[in-house]
Amino acid sequence: MTDSASESFVPQHIAIIMDGNGRWANSRGWKRSLGHYRGSAKVKEIIREADKLGVKVLSLYCFSTENWRRPLEEVETLMRLLKSFLIKERDELHANGVQVRVLGQLEKIPAAVRAIVTETIDMTSKNNGMVLNFCISYGSRHEIVDAVKVVAERVQSGELKPSEINEELISSLLYTGGLPDPDLLIRTSGEFRISNFFLWQLAYSEILILDKYWPDFGAEDLRNACQHFSRRERRFGATPPTPLRPGIAAT
Ligand code: FPP
Repeated sequence: MTDSASESFVPQHIAIIMDGNGRWANSRGWKRSLGHYRGSAKVKEIIREADKLGVKVLSLYCFSTENWRRPLEEVETLMRLLKSFLIKERDELHANGVQVRVLGQLEKIPAAVRAIVTETIDMTSKNNGMVLNFCISYGSRHEIVDAVKVVAERVQSGELKPSEINEELISSLLYTGGLPDPDLLIRTSGEFRISNFFLWQLAYSEILILDKYWPDFGAEDLRNACQHFSRRERRFGATPPTPLRPGIAAT
């Protein structure tokens, strides 16, 4: 689904660190799990809006490798939410041509959740609409280590020369291989941290930190973020276009 009027300011790939569920609930005197419930409703709203805007890739940081250190009850709540989210939403996602992918250490996810995740990936794998990356048990350093191991094995077997190792090869070996790097990273709840998310892929992304908890982030905020993005000048390390001095005609 695309809205051609808005396509000009829409980033191809948006990555989101959905932070602040716990604080959102605490600020109301509620249990953290209620923040996660509300957060998962927002996930649905944002996926729909991103698809409507014509975003090609949406990456959502749902659960990091470090999040396993949270209390068991909270980890179980998050895993249950992921499972029920996929069960409830996958038919609509599939009908809209969304291709669901999961980036991270799938083997660490409880078997019952993994089964639903795998079914959803298989079900939507041939779709050619928006790519929706759920980053679950995801850690960027681990992802890079995995890629380095593949490179080392190929060098050891003689399939690859060290001189042939380049940025394109490393990019292709990351979980995001084949996808464009994020144009825009949004982090909610005001923290200025990357938190082990897409360390390689974010090299030239525009970063937008919003002073709002994830459960308060909605479709309008996503549209505003896209508009904000369209006003940024992306130079990828180059110099800005030199303005002409008055009196000098352009040739
Ligand atoms: C950060 O908030 C958020 C998470 C660790 C998980 C994100 C999960 C969801 C948005 C809901 C479930 C997702 C899906 C796809 C159904 P936090 O708990 O760290 O908040 P805090 O920093 O205020 O404590």
